[in-house]
Amino acid sequence: MKIMAFGARVDEIPYLQQWAADNAAELAIRTELLDAQTVALAAGYDGINCLQTTPYSAALFAEMGRLGIKFLTIRNVGTDNIDFAAATKAGVRIANTPAYSPNAIAEFAVTLTLHLLRQLGPVEAALQAGDYPKATTFIGRELAQQTVGVVGAGRIGRAAIKLFSGFGARVLAYDPHPVPDPTLACTYVSLSELLQQSDVVDLHVPGVAANTHLIDAQALAQMKPDAVLINTARGNLIDTQALLTALRAGRLGGAGIDTFENESAALLALNQDGYFHDPLWDELAACENVILAPHIAYYTQTAVHNMVYYSLQALVEFLENGHTDTEVAAH
Ligand code: NAD
Ligand code: COI
Repeated sequence: MKIMAFGARVDEIPYLQQWAADNAAELAIRTELLDAQTVALAAGYDGINCLQTTPYSAALFAEMGRLGIKFLTIRNVGTDNIDFAAATKAGVRIANTPAYSPNAIAEFAVTLTLHLLRQLGPVEAALQAGDYPKATTFIGRELAQQTVGVVGAGRIGRAAIKLFSGFGARVLAYDPHPVPDPTLACTYVSLSELLQQSDVVDLHVPGVAANTHLIDAQALAQMKPDAVLINTARGNLIDTQALLTALRAGRLGGAGIDTFENESAALLALNQDGYFHDPLWDELAACENVILAPHIAYYTQTAVHNMVYYSLQALVEFLENGHTDTEVAAH
């Protein structure tokens, strides 16, 4: 069986090589992202493995169909960048890696929350300006005294609920399809109730089209004026212009954004000059009560190892049995 891994990042390559050695597999490792042109590199291969946030387009799937490559496994969770209808039409089946480490992302959401509640942005800015007295003036809020609203109680949301309740916070959750779990210390409420009552609103829903601008001007207007908004899920969930308006008007306490609305390949890898050019990003970065990250919530040693191992295992199952439990289809 011949497999090609696309989009291989420097940090993934040792894991990819180790997996190939562990499994005596013929694995070609490419750093190129997968598209309708680069897929030609996989001619003669049986299956493709990839990690990217750029689109898996209809043209790509048409080419895969033409090359007779029927299986694609992705090394990440989110499938919002996949044209499933085109994949089905081309006879390509896809599996994602749904649980490589929900805790990695949940821990990062908690990290952003604590950073904002303890006002580390203004403290850092005062220190950078050499104003040491000012740096001592930013009084924090304790997580144990807050109400945290988790939107989307899937794998990552549930991991976040466990962490936040472990800190002693009161946790609310909103999910139209809650998974019964008596060990979860949270109360399910409507989205409006959650927005109105929470000091921290933490998003863990997929970036499917129906969720675009789930947090818009109206949703922001329902939130407490000192609430903080955390997004480690997908950039399209928040109307960033409305977020900036609310922050500037003092109608929101802060925001922690790992997944930015205008995220691009340039943000994820940074440009050659190491700078990502986007006016909205720059405006957010100028706010002391905003903490930005370049889509790294997942990025831990455990997660990267599991992304590689679980997704390649799924590809082997597809190729050997025509089936894998993590197969995904259109939403
Ligand atoms: P999951 O499928 O286990 O859970 C998603 C949950 O969201 C489901 O329970 C679903 O019912 C719920 N949901 C969908 N739409 C909703 C809405 N409008 N309101 C409330 N709930 C809604 O997925 P997961 O593993 O928890 O991952 C969630 C998302 O996190 C992924 O889709 C991906 O976009 C993102 N993610 C980000 C990173 C990162 O590094 N920043 C890493 C992994 C995943
Ligand atoms: C995901 O797993 O969906 C992520 O957002 C991680 C990223 C490397 C694509």
